[in-house]
Parts: sequence; structure tokens; C-alpha cells
Amino acid sequence: MKLFIDTANLKEIEALVPLGIIDGITTNPTLLAKEARGARGGDFRSHLQKICTLVQGPVSAEVVATTADAMVAEGRTLAAIDRHIVVKVPFGREGLAACKALAGEGHPVNVTLVFSPTQALLAAKVGATFVSPFVGRLDDIATDGMDLVERIVEIYDNYEFATEVLVASVRHPMHIVAAARMGADVCTCPAAVIEASLRHPLTDLGLERFLKDWEQARAQMANPSTPAR
Ligand code: E4P
Repeated sequence: MKLFIDTANLKEIEALVPLGIIDGITTNPTLLAKEARGARGGDFRSHLQKICTLVQGPVSAEVVATTADAMVAEGRTLAAIDRHIVVKVPFGREGLAACKALAGEGHPVNVTLVFSPTQALLAAKVGATFVSPFVGRLDDIATDGMDLVERIVEIYDNYEFATEVLVASVRHPMHIVAAARMGADVCTCPAAVIEASLRHPLTDLGLERFLKDWEQARAQMANPSTPAR
């Protein structure tokens, strides 16, 4: 399963990419707006370009246009920023038409804001490269988000759709585990969720013990009169 970071923050990307575990990035207008506030108005194109250079993998950049024609025009502009850009369009009548047109021109498209299996089926039919079910936002309204992922994976398997299931709106490491067990293609996570997955108290305790035992053994070898503990 590929792991993406759901962020537009360069520091978060720089901290995780060198580990070799990150395959791509997803952004959305909320995430980019957060960075623009920090950078006093920032230039989105160069910001997205920097992200692409850092990650060297798919970087989803979302259109903010609301009609199909305008989405296609905006999508072409986004795609021109870097070869790694994936144009993200919101699910809906306009988004589907834009996806079909952009995919027809060879641009990879991520259909976002997906909350039902039928939406995912329709996105696959118009050639989406990725479909983004939002699991956390479903959990937030007492609906099982991972159940949606399971259904989409089943439907795509039944018909051998090439569209990749990109689990989004991830809230905690158990979403990553569930996504991997279901065979989702990608899980995009906030940096904090990936950072949390890097730590385990038993790993820390175990390492502390190994190092202590090793130091004691070395001390004893250097001075055999030291009592062994
Ligand atoms: C996905 O691409 C979205 O950017 C994201 O996962 C939304 O997550 P949220 O529900 O935490 O805002």
C-alpha cells in the first residue's frame, strides 16, 4: 500500500520524505490556504512545485472552479506546474465531466469528496486515476468510513477497474491498518498520524534494555572483577 502525506506543509514533507516511506502528497484548498496564511499570501504554483520536487511522486492539487469547463481549464493549468501533479476534482456532475475530459487528455485525476460506493463506481467509469473516500468525516457522523472502503475495493475488484482507492480523511493509525488489510491502494495521512506510527513504547523499552545490557557486558569485559547483574 502506498503512503501519502495529507499536507501542504513543506516542513512536514521534508521531515518524512527522507525516510523513504512516502510515495506522494495530497493537498486540498484548506491545507494550501493554511500555508498561504503562514507565508503571507504565498504563490500556490511555486508552493506546489516545491512539493513536487521534494516528493518526486503524485501530488494532488485541487481545482476550485465549480463548472466542468472551468475545472478543465484550471486542471490544465495545475497539470502544467509539474509532471507529478494529479488534478483533484470534487465528485459531482461537473466534477465527473471534468474528470472524463482531463483523463481523456492524459492527465491523472483524483476524484475527491467521495462518501458512497456509487460515487466511487461513477468516478472509475470516467477514468479517475484515484478515488478518495473520506473515512474520518464519515466516522464523525457515526457511519463506518472503512466499511465504505471495503465496498469500493470489492466493486473495483469485481470489474477490474484500474482506479486506485486512496483512503482519505484519516484520523489515526488504525485507519492505516484497516486500509492495508482491505487492500486499499493508497492511504493519505496527516503527518502526525505517520509520526505516531513511527513510535511504539515496547520498541523504546526494548531498545533501552538492549543498550543497557550491551553496556554492562562491555564494562564487565573491560573489567572482569565487575559483578555481573
Ligand atoms: C484528502 O485528500 C483530503 O485532503 C483530506 O484527507 C481531508 O481530510 P479531513 O477530513 O481531515 O479534512
